[in-house]
Amino acid sequence: MINEVIINLLYIVAAILFIVGLKMLGNAKKARKGNLISAIGMLIAIVTALISNNVLQWQWVAVGLIAGSIVGALAARMVAMTAIPEMVALFNGFGGAASLLVGWSEYHRYAVASDVMDISVLSLLIIIVTILIGGVTFTGSIIAWGKLAGKIPSKPIQYSGQKIVNALIVILLIGGAVVFAPLRDLMLLDSYPLLIIIIVLSCILGITFVIPIGGGDMPVVMSLLNSFSGMAACAAGFVISNNVLIVAGALVGSSGIILTTIMCKAMNRKLTNVLFSGFGSGKAKAGAGFQGEANPISVEDTYIILEAANSVLIVPGYGMAVAQAQHAVCELAEQLEENGAEVNFAIHPVAGRMPGHMNVLLAEANVPYEKLKEMDDVNPTIEMVDVVIVIGANDVVNPAARTDESSPIYGMPVINVDKARTVIVMKRSLNPGFAGIENPLFFNDNTRMLFGDAKKSTQGLVAEFKG
Ligand code: TAP
Repeated sequence: MINEVIINLLYIVAAILFIVGLKMLGNAKKARKGNLISAIGMLIAIVTALISNNVLQWQWVAVGLIAGSIVGALAARMVAMTAIPEMVALFNGFGGAASLLVGWSEYHRYAVASDVMDISVLSLLIIIVTILIGGVTFTGSIIAWGKLAGKIPSKPIQYSGQKIVNALIVILLIGGAVVFAPLRDLMLLDSYPLLIIIIVLSCILGITFVIPIGGGDMPVVMSLLNSFSGMAACAAGFVISNNVLIVAGALVGSSGIILTTIMCKAMNRKLTNVLFSGFGSGKAKAGAGFQGEANPISVEDTYIILEAANSVLIVPGYGMAVAQAQHAVCELAEQLEENGAEVNFAIHPVAGRMPGHMNVLLAEANVPYEKLKEMDDVNPTIEMVDVVIVIGANDVVNPAARTDESSPIYGMPVINVDKARTVIVMKRSLNPGFAGIENPLFFNDNTRMLFGDAKKSTQGLVAEFKG
């Protein structure tokens, strides 16, 4: 056993490394290093925890370490970039399950090993909170994974009285916890059935909480569940009196909430709207109708416009991810630059289906980070841009968000591409995007629609430039 002071010092070092690493994740160039620094912090925390707790069965620790490392390394290598949200959902669920098991085993230790409750009411309550949040996070994340991976229908699954059922489960859980805590004076084994009921109800709540939410909103749900799993880990830290788990859990819990808030703000929606409105069920208001005709354009004619452009702004969206067009887009940008145009990319914070979706894809295609501009940086000067190419984006460039008060996305900040001199929109049809609403941009005089798969259209343009 090492000295208590040294253990806490090592935990403080680990916590500092977590925070420094997290801070670096905010900068694309430093993100990899930040990830590594946080991982080193985690290694220090694990080794310190193992040494300080005088581990008896090292063989099981070794088995866990090796199995976890193999699964983690394989998953990171094999998963496709577009499947990252699913992987995050699954791993998040495992985090919740781990917290549930920590709480359960701690209870079991008191209940079975000592047979008499030698535990304070507060500790017992924390155990219940750990189990409760862990259970909700576990099953909620699994449902989110199923929706994202298409294993279960991604549409919101709703039925009448759903909110009442959920509220009832929450009331039962709170009631269970209140009844459970004073049981410390009883033989612990007597309260075991109640604990099992609480575990089962928590797992049911995770399912009933997530199924009414549409697949498109899963990133927000994931971020919220991620925050829950942080809180569960934090509570687990109190249960097993582990300072570093408390700090790490609090960091995950708070950063998850911050990310959730950022996403809701960027979509101009309240969290309650994301969680309870069944967005994507087809019930959303469509906004005011408008009239006009879209002007289609061919690849050849688009090339003529681009060839004459001095400045080009590329605005990618979910369709670029679907078409896997990022490499072709990067090649097009290179061709445009060789032709003498200034090329930049405008990234909307919620373009695609997960935070940083476009950044990840463009980074994969080696687009230099300096070329990626934020919405607030491009909007003030967008009138000066010769040509904007919208690649598979729809909602994030919808001017109705600015102009149509009856639109469901009214007030959502968008990239004002309609203000550029010419806009080329690449998509397959006039179909709406995630929000399910029409886009007046497609009917503007300065907009040309280049219909077709984004990858094929972009490759066509590259071929034109190459002659
Ligand atoms: P969307 O509005 O969803 O539009 C994507 C467009 O891509 C569709 O209209 C579709 O039109 C087109 N498309 C699909 N496959 C294509 C292909 N192979 N080639 C060319 N085009 C293709 O995307 P967006 O503008 O990126 O906006 C994102 C939306 O998701 C926002 O409403 C946002 O609030 C929501 N959301 C985002 C997040 C995060 S964190 N990013 C989280 C939750 C929700 P066609 O079918 O006509 O081709």
